[in-house]
Amino acid sequence: MLSLSLPLVLSLLLLRPNLPVTAQTTIIPSTSFSSPSTFQQYWNYLYPWGSDHNGSARMRGSPSDRSMIDVNAGTLTLRATQTTNPVPPTSTSNPKPAIRYASGAIHAKHQVTVTAQRGYTLSGEFSAPTVRGTWPAFWLTGVNSWPPEVDIGEWKGTPENWFNTFNTSSVVRSDIVPWPADLSFHSIRAVLAAQPNGADVRIQFYMDNVLRATQFGKGFVGKPLWLIINLQMEGSSGTPGPSGTTTYKVRNLQVSQS
Ligand SMILES: *[C@@H]1O[C@H](CO)[C@@H](O)[C@H](O)[C@H]1NC(C)=O
Ligand SMILES: *[C@@H]1O[C@H](CO)[C@@H](O)[C@H](O)[C@H]1NC(C)=O
Repeated sequence: MLSLSLPLVLSLLLLRPNLPVTAQTTIIPSTSFSSPSTFQQYWNYLYPWGSDHNGSARMRGSPSDRSMIDVNAGTLTLRATQTTNPVPPTSTSNPKPAIRYASGAIHAKHQVTVTAQRGYTLSGEFSAPTVRGTWPAFWLTGVNSWPPEVDIGEWKGTPENWFNTFNTSSVVRSDIVPWPADLSFHSIRAVLAAQPNGADVRIQFYMDNVLRATQFGKGFVGKPLWLIINLQMEGSSGTPGPSGTTTYKVRNLQVSQS
């Protein structure tokens, strides 16, 4: 009878060639939306640059103002409602659209930087509005320059999700996948890894655990990226947006390094 001691089995496993070394380090655990105090360990309110961007929603949010942002039992809920008499009346970000909504945005405290030794996996389950004028997103954008940009979730007012990678403002790859319009949760995942040239990053995009697109970001290695979740309105998603309340939900969100 063959009997192997535990230390022997372990050393055989360690010696086995071609076994990928995939030690995963959790950066943002799936519990980050379990309570406001856990949330604050991993996330900041608003966009990294403030409340405004290139749509018609002005974001609100702070530890004392969670009117547009709710975290509860592991789910993040962002809400958008129409607003009147915003001050100032137009967005401070180009192309400075008129502000017509109040909404929510958050960004991770951790900056995502892919290196030759370190890739990332970002995943979550999303209930995304897809009606005209709603523009929710789950995306990465350069800390020091734009681009880089990688859009893992971007819904532009139609029942479709856009996976995008921007090499420059005009050199963009987009893969568009159908997305149910019934607000049901579906998972998306992006796996980012440096290419052998040590400069470019490969991004594999999954929906419901099926690989749907592979894109390449030119020179993204070593560039820090903000991770943003926001419910922007109008802009790229058409006008007019809805007059009632729009909600965008995210759960089981996880970021890990390998
Ligand atoms: C972006 O650059 C990468 C690396 O050079 C390239 O593989 C990819 O095709 C480029 N994307 C587009 C849309 O041209
Ligand atoms: C808004 O800005 C983002 C980058 O911050 C860009 O990807 C997008 O194309 C812009 N859209 C419009 C409508 O300006």
